[in-house]
Amino acid sequence: MKQTRRGARRGRLAPQVRWRRMRIVYVVGTRPNFVKTAPVIAALRQRIPDGRHAIVHTGQHYDRLMSQIFLEELGVPPPDHLLEIGSGSHATQTAQAMQRLEPVLLEERPDLVIVPGDVNSTLAAALTAVKMGIPLAHVESGLRSFDRTMPEEVNRIVADEFADHLFLHCEEAIENLRAEGIAEERMHFVGNTMIDTLVALEERFRAAGAAARLGVAPGEFVLVTLHRPALVDGPLLPETVERLAALARQMPVIFPVHPRTRKMMEAVESEHPELRLCEPLGYVDFLSLLADAGAALTDSGGIQEETTYLGVPCFTLRANTERPVTVRAGTNTLLGLDPAAIAGIPEALAGRSPERPPPPPLWDGRAAERIADVLAPA
Ligand code: UD1
Repeated sequence: MKQTRRGARRGRLAPQVRWRRMRIVYVVGTRPNFVKTAPVIAALRQRIPDGRHAIVHTGQHYDRLMSQIFLEELGVPPPDHLLEIGSGSHATQTAQAMQRLEPVLLEERPDLVIVPGDVNSTLAAALTAVKMGIPLAHVESGLRSFDRTMPEEVNRIVADEFADHLFLHCEEAIENLRAEGIAEERMHFVGNTMIDTLVALEERFRAAGAAARLGVAPGEFVLVTLHRPALVDGPLLPETVERLAALARQMPVIFPVHPRTRKMMEAVESEHPELRLCEPLGYVDFLSLLADAGAALTDSGGIQEETTYLGVPCFTLRANTERPVTVRAGTNTLLGLDPAAIAGIPEALAGRSPERPPPPPLWDGRAAERIADVLAPA
């Protein structure tokens, strides 16, 4: 049989040194993707200096405050390929990312595609790689909310089903994947790469003083982020905003507003001067505020994790979480998809023990190194 150029080149390398020239494509598209992937890129670039490390940014998030500022702060080199897919329906966004990624993968000829998280870019990249027969690695694998109406649940199930290497950030992921019949040898419990980034930025965000700049005292304000369709795209948003305004009459509420949420808030036209709304923040400023917050109120996945590491009480305005590890840790409280529950936050805070629980196993700043140990063993 005629060997392809790629096959011939690969065939000349002994298996134990093959990874030294590994060609890797990292596909990112949204704010949390950048945070989760930055330490993986750094660890693998260091471990495989003679390899090719190509970064593809799908452009799912494109505003400077949602995208570029993050890459700059995280020290990620400029992307090698920009797909500029922008916003759209799920089908449009996913299809455009697949269509534009395919020629990039043909050009890059990677040995491995790495995707993080559970966003539409993750789904698109996973499907494209697997259809092209390219090995796939999924960072933050095995999380399950068991709620298939969430787009992220569908995305992560597909990525896990097809990934050759599944990098798990918590122990319950092992059980979730076993229950789906995923082979043990594909799973690697490495820890949380988002926490790697937090640990790497700790000195900077502790010195950033974002709370002082906003004129709020450490420990005495609530930091809010909300962006999920279940909460912001439907009838729950007006009541949520009313409840936040009522909370703001008891303690300062700072609310950096995701573009999706801003659009929906403009549509409901509510005026609440007591709420301190602002543009999305850069990551260093956001972590600075989060570390100093008396509590966070969120529907984000990442913030449930970051507050767990920082020991900050978190109230999650969702019916479920794919991160029960954060509830077990004692920092995260699931409020349900129920804006009325916001009213109970001051009382819940008053009754809390000030003790900071230890972070979950392997949330120690070294998860990306463990990923490198699997992909490029010394
Ligand atoms: C996406 C992810 C979600 C993740 C979130 C992090 C999916 C299905 N959802 O949600 O899991 O938690 O990112 O932020 O992939 N927009 C802008 N500028 C931008 C980006 C978005 O204006 O830079 C607006 C557009 O109106 C867009 C809307 O926000 O239609 C939603 O963006 P989209 O990427 O579809 O999903 P997110 O809500 O950001």
